[in-house]
Amino acid sequence: MTVLGPTDRPRRLRATPAMRRLVAETRLHPAELILPLFVREGASEPVPISSMPGVVQHSTDSLKRVVADAAAAGIGGIMLFGVPEHKDAVGSGATDPGGILNVATRIAVAEAGDALVVQTDLCLDEFTDHGHCGVLDAKGYVDNDATLERYRDMGVAQAEAGSQLLGLSGMMDGQVAAVRDALDDSGHGSTPILAYAAKYASAFYGPFREAVQSSLEGDRRTYQQDPANRREGARELDLDIAEGADIVMVKPAMSYLDVLADAAATSPVPVWAYQVSGEYAMIEAAAAHGWIDRRRAIEESVIGIRRAGADAVLTYWALELAEWIR
Ligand code: PBG
Repeated sequence: MTVLGPTDRPRRLRATPAMRRLVAETRLHPAELILPLFVREGASEPVPISSMPGVVQHSTDSLKRVVADAAAAGIGGIMLFGVPEHKDAVGSGATDPGGILNVATRIAVAEAGDALVVQTDLCLDEFTDHGHCGVLDAKGYVDNDATLERYRDMGVAQAEAGSQLLGLSGMMDGQVAAVRDALDDSGHGSTPILAYAAKYASAFYGPFREAVQSSLEGDRRTYQQDPANRREGARELDLDIAEGADIVMVKPAMSYLDVLADAAATSPVPVWAYQVSGEYAMIEAAAAHGWIDRRRAIEESVIGIRRAGADAVLTYWALELAEWIR
């Protein structure tokens, strides 16, 4: 007897776990996960970050341990952020070879060996007392070209400390070309640049401010992008690639999957995405209330970012995810 019904039955391929696994279009692999790490100057113990449960500001000792764990987990890399004890108007700690980020880089590189790629955030906000990503002019406006001079020096200091990929996150015009030039001029022509190309002025960076003890008042809207703009994301990507970016990034991730998909469709270089502190905090908070299934929500969020086109993802869950994937 013929039963009348649909002729197209996509459910055939969803019937068993084995079939679903076989037809999955996107998979996660530890090698495409990057773990952001905060390292606090003067800390003798790891310091918890209250708005990011499970994430800490590392001491140099706990940094060594987490780098060893990251290497053992087979993740692709780590991204280091420094939390200096002293901040000033120009972010002197960023260019000091003895500054916390450069010290942490040396430690991480020594610990990691060839197991993963040690990356560094190249931006002044962790180091300035006003909390902006650049230096200010007399009116308090972030001075683009004066900041480029600082970024050039910061890039050379990071390369000298052994950073294997510089993450330019400051959103100054011309920053990729400026740092590329400084690296090439100082014998670091083979150090690659990851450009935070499309970086939006986002509320989802909230917990990060606590993580790096930023004193920022106001916002970053004169240099980071307006969340309303998709086309502008494509323009920023094109500019950074033309200036010599080796890898480009979209940030945040979950609210910008269209920008990410656009980038993935056209970029000749790898496209990464940063699942930022607020994205982490949201899922952790909901899971802590029992409102969502924590593991499923984490996996789905990162799968979604990969499916939209990210070749690799920076996520605070990198280590835990890597363990689940194995
Ligand atoms: C800039 C930088 C920020 C983040 C990464 N690099 C802060 C900002 O631009 O406001 C945010 C990362 C996160 O929220 O997880 N140094």
